[in-house]
Amino acid sequence: MNIIFNEQNRVFKLDTPNSSYMIKIADTDGFLLHMYYGRRLSDTCTDDLCRLEQHPFVPSKNERERASFMDCAPFEYPCHGLGDYRDDAFSVLNPDGHTATSFSYRFYKIYNGKPGITGMPATFGTEEECETLEITGEDAANGLEITCVYSVFKDTDAIARSVRIKNLGKYESIKLTKVLSSCTDFYGEDYDTIFLHGSWARERIIDRKPLGYGKHYVSSLRGESSHQEHPFIGLLAKNADEDNGEVYGFNFVYSGNFIAQAEKSQFDSVRVLMGINPVDFGWNLKAGEVFEAPEVISVYSAQGLGGMSRSFHDLYRKHLIRGKYKDRKRPILINNWEATYFDFNTEKLISIAKKASELGIEMLVMDDGWFGHRNDDSTSLGDWYVNEEKLPGGLKPLVDEVNKLGMKFGIWMEPEMISPDSDLFHTHPDWAIQIPGRDPVKSRAQLVLDLSRKEVVDYVYEKVSGILKSANIEYLKWDMNRQLTDLGSYGLSSEAQGELFHRYVLGVYALQERLINDFPNLLLENCSGGGARFDPGMLYYSPQIWTSDDQDPIERLKIQQGTALIYPLSTMGAHVCDCPNHTTGRTTPFELRGYVALAGTFGYELDVTRIPKEDQALIPKQIAMYHKYNELVRTGDYYRIASFTDNHEWDAWEVVSPDKSEALLTVVNVMARVNMKSRPVKLKGLDPQKKYTVTFINIKDNAEEETITLSGDALMYAGINPRIAGMGDYKGKMIYLKEY
Ligand code: GLA
Repeated sequence: MNIIFNEQNRVFKLDTPNSSYMIKIADTDGFLLHMYYGRRLSDTCTDDLCRLEQHPFVPSKNERERASFMDCAPFEYPCHGLGDYRDDAFSVLNPDGHTATSFSYRFYKIYNGKPGITGMPATFGTEEECETLEITGEDAANGLEITCVYSVFKDTDAIARSVRIKNLGKYESIKLTKVLSSCTDFYGEDYDTIFLHGSWARERIIDRKPLGYGKHYVSSLRGESSHQEHPFIGLLAKNADEDNGEVYGFNFVYSGNFIAQAEKSQFDSVRVLMGINPVDFGWNLKAGEVFEAPEVISVYSAQGLGGMSRSFHDLYRKHLIRGKYKDRKRPILINNWEATYFDFNTEKLISIAKKASELGIEMLVMDDGWFGHRNDDSTSLGDWYVNEEKLPGGLKPLVDEVNKLGMKFGIWMEPEMISPDSDLFHTHPDWAIQIPGRDPVKSRAQLVLDLSRKEVVDYVYEKVSGILKSANIEYLKWDMNRQLTDLGSYGLSSEAQGELFHRYVLGVYALQERLINDFPNLLLENCSGGGARFDPGMLYYSPQIWTSDDQDPIERLKIQQGTALIYPLSTMGAHVCDCPNHTTGRTTPFELRGYVALAGTFGYELDVTRIPKEDQALIPKQIAMYHKYNELVRTGDYYRIASFTDNHEWDAWEVVSPDKSEALLTVVNVMARVNMKSRPVKLKGLDPQKKYTVTFINIKDNAEEETITLSGDALMYAGINPRIAGMGDYKGKMIYLKEY
């Protein structure tokens, strides 16, 4: 039993393999109070914790000082306007103009398995793998039923939380103005937070800082999870580092506006809140209807950040990602974007494909510019028909030709968008998101389609599926290249305009759900101006996401480290880029670009017919490495050894197979040190009792430099010389370990 209810103490206890989470129903008023989240406790601790009476608040039945109680009680789902002045999770605007809410316990349900969330992504698991607790309360004054849903996973230290609100009918309709998905209160400890910040071409950079008093949050109002801030918050004990100490991670399984907030109160308690951003949100809930909030995943780790990352990776690989490619090696692709931009035709693509196939590349992806009259980024989004000036005879002859070379074919589309210069806009100007009377703000010269409207979703689906059916297309890069502004829909009534942001996201999910059901063999890769929508919501539909438009291997060290803090390496779109790099202008060795891309899905984004011969010659060797090591990279446990972001000199990471029989270490010397010996690299996650054959891989000469046999304990506790001293800047090395 992973979830128990102690009747006597009125305490719920939820267990994952190494963590416990406890909730108490208060003796009076039916408040739901948070008791504990941390290292796993034995079941008898339910009594002990109640006896400890560590909560500093006065009882709620003290009518004279009830406000003091409200303002420091650790509410499990804090409501609005009744004395808890910390930020809350739930507020409304009822027909009488009142905003207050409350939660009073009614009943609970515990069952095996895990429910989905209607029309939205959610982690999943069988009745053997998961157990769920639903606690239902009521806000009688508003006629609302509130259900907090918790699922625990028996194989991972993760808890999934979501909330459902039902209108019981006191009001015909009530406006929900804030429905966050989770709240966790922590007591009296000093914490650091980790947020991920960024911008276009530098997404998800780790930002750790002490948590001071007041509210500290990241959020998005851009209609997507965004380049700039990420739906994640890490709460760390002061002594927590990569390998040790207590870390809590919260990640939102949602791809639109969010808020992730930590608030340190006057009593040093910390409240972590996560959910849909309440700004510009207003949902009209009619009598009998239910609003379902998206899911939050929380992970507890006593093994520092590394432990947290490995739990997120395991959870997402097993319980979030779906479809044919969930557990499979992905085809090695070559994408023509940075090779040609808009300037290509069938002949050019075939010449790239020919060379690529000779070298062992498995799929050609045709990027932006093949449709309408699009020769730059200012036109044609929405006009999903082939530009026959570039591709005479359409897609089929091109795809057939590529297939004849033994390669798969993939295509780029940006289905959520509309160019004002398009046939679609001329026919349906009201399909763009806009506010009547305002000239809508353009970004990349484009507007966003109003996916809150069913007819628009149906049109987009018909176009995307029509293209996919028109030839043997086995991969789709689904792009989204601008953020939302001018929030207005011609399809929604004036009182429903506040629903647009969320309905837009539901429209995207509906489209992708239909797509993956109708095209089960399709490999879908999501993308948003690089990595602006790299979130667990999108991973439910696509097993990989384009990580960033910055493919420079040195910049990628930071971007991939921040991304791998939460997401498995199997999900990170990564390509060997052109040189000098198109975003930074930096020149780096071809082999280094390969080492860094091998940490992700792996592919190429350059004109393979025009790169130097010696670089071409390395491609079959890189491909051989991909085939040899990808299983390990995709399924292994990820360990961060050194971070260039922190030390400004070098970077290293390692993947270890779950049975600890194999490992792959990648070391990158970013800035060479003068007159210094190689630093020993201490490996992690090996079996100290096992012996390993250690192979230094020399890709340039396609040879193994040397193989030595060493014990796991020596490799981990004394370390190994990676032999990079004196190699120069931007040099990498891969070292493979196999149980002897
Ligand atoms: C976005 C993507 C790129 C490329 C371009 C095409 O920026 O991230 O990879 O597909 O769009 O316009």
